[in-house]
Amino acid sequence: MLSAAAGGSRRLNGDGAFGNQGVTMLDSAVDQEIRDLIQAHGRITFAQFMQACLYSPRGGFYSSRANRINKHFGTSATSHPVYGTLIVRQLEQMWHILGGPSPFHVIEVGSGDGALARSVVEACRQVAPDMAEALSYVAADYEPWWPLPSVHAEGLDERIEGPRLPGGQDVGWGIHRVKAQGLSCFRNVQGCILSNELLDNFPVHRFVIQSGQVKEVFVTLSEGRFTDVLDEPSTPRIEERLVNLGISLPEGFRGEMNLAMDEWTGQLVDTLERGFVLTIDYGELAVDLYASKNAQGTLVCFQDHVVSSDPYQHIGQQDITTQVDYASLMRLGEGSGLTTVGYTLQRHFLDDLGFSSLLDELQTRDLSYARAELTRMAMMTLVDPEEYGNFKVLAQAKGLGSDIKLLGFKER
Ligand SMILES: C[S@@+](CC[C@H](N)C(=O)[O-])C[C@H]1O[C@@H](n2cnc3c(N)ncnc32)[C@H](O)[C@@H]1O
Repeated sequence: MLSAAAGGSRRLNGDGAFGNQGVTMLDSAVDQEIRDLIQAHGRITFAQFMQACLYSPRGGFYSSRANRINKHFGTSATSHPVYGTLIVRQLEQMWHILGGPSPFHVIEVGSGDGALARSVVEACRQVAPDMAEALSYVAADYEPWWPLPSVHAEGLDERIEGPRLPGGQDVGWGIHRVKAQGLSCFRNVQGCILSNELLDNFPVHRFVIQSGQVKEVFVTLSEGRFTDVLDEPSTPRIEERLVNLGISLPEGFRGEMNLAMDEWTGQLVDTLERGFVLTIDYGELAVDLYASKNAQGTLVCFQDHVVSSDPYQHIGQQDITTQVDYASLMRLGEGSGLTTVGYTLQRHFLDDLGFSSLLDELQTRDLSYARAELTRMAMMTLVDPEEYGNFKVLAQAKGLGSDIKLLGFKER
């Protein structure tokens, strides 16, 4: 069944219930950490609050994750491995455009459970064996979480060996799993920097338009509960970005601003010597994002397949996300040497890469009716506008000029 978040944000299984509001957990270490911060400073920005909730080593949602991502929500990567197969087709063309380098680096940031990493590497061996020889796949995450134990560890970088498939075929994954924040520990990459549902998790500032002015929404404590307090912005960058986007907002409009994308773009440019950035996430161009349909913002929380709009409950136990402003992402890239070479809907991207032919192939496989139907349904979530189909895909390039036509971004 579809969820409140369907078509615009993470996918939930079950009925996608909207959670109850206002219950604040008092006993977790991260909760206490945030209270201490507020007590020391009177108030903190929402970005500081979100950073702690998601990434604090003292119990942030992603830092202390004991469960697979699927426990809380689904992603394209966890839905069906065909997603990775189609991305391989795009990576293969990128590899050719780059002149077939070896190694061909693919750095996936925010790789989570490694679902995309495994499906890409496995598909690469099957459909692009030449590129597979050259491929050096790095799956980087704050806190990599993998369903299988690693075979051996070398410092931060662990090589994961895959299982043997029935029939003896070795699908050794050969993926470098790296515990890293962003791209700061990578340099001289020739290849592609890839992410799926990463940027929506970057900590955001919140703002509201009051008396025609931009006010920032800070987090403070009132009678022991986390609550909003409005004040002058902690940084002029919130208003500057709105001005740069040419957006003027009505009284009472409440929104989020992902200023962390600035630093992220800097990291992309510093890390990528020559090649591509492929960013897949939910979001829109700023003109649609900061529109009346989102007058209360786009912030959504997920826990155990329940969605809520209250970030002040279940501290460290729930995911917090906002839609990505792709106009700013492109603009930041273009100001730093990244050329926008494609922007489209995920369903168009996958269609252009051959989604329908893979769906047709299902019928030629020797599957029971039930198995074929389950597979078909899982695949269809990737292109269904009510599920992941309206996610956006952005391709940027560095050092390759602007006259690049990528397979996944055909003109329509
Ligand atoms: C919503 S999950 C997506 C996981 C995976 N890409 C997928 O599609 O299933 C976001 C992941 O990004 C990671 N993450 C968020 N910010 C990060 C950063 N700056 N550096 C590395 N990992 C980050 C989180 O730890 C989490 O595993």
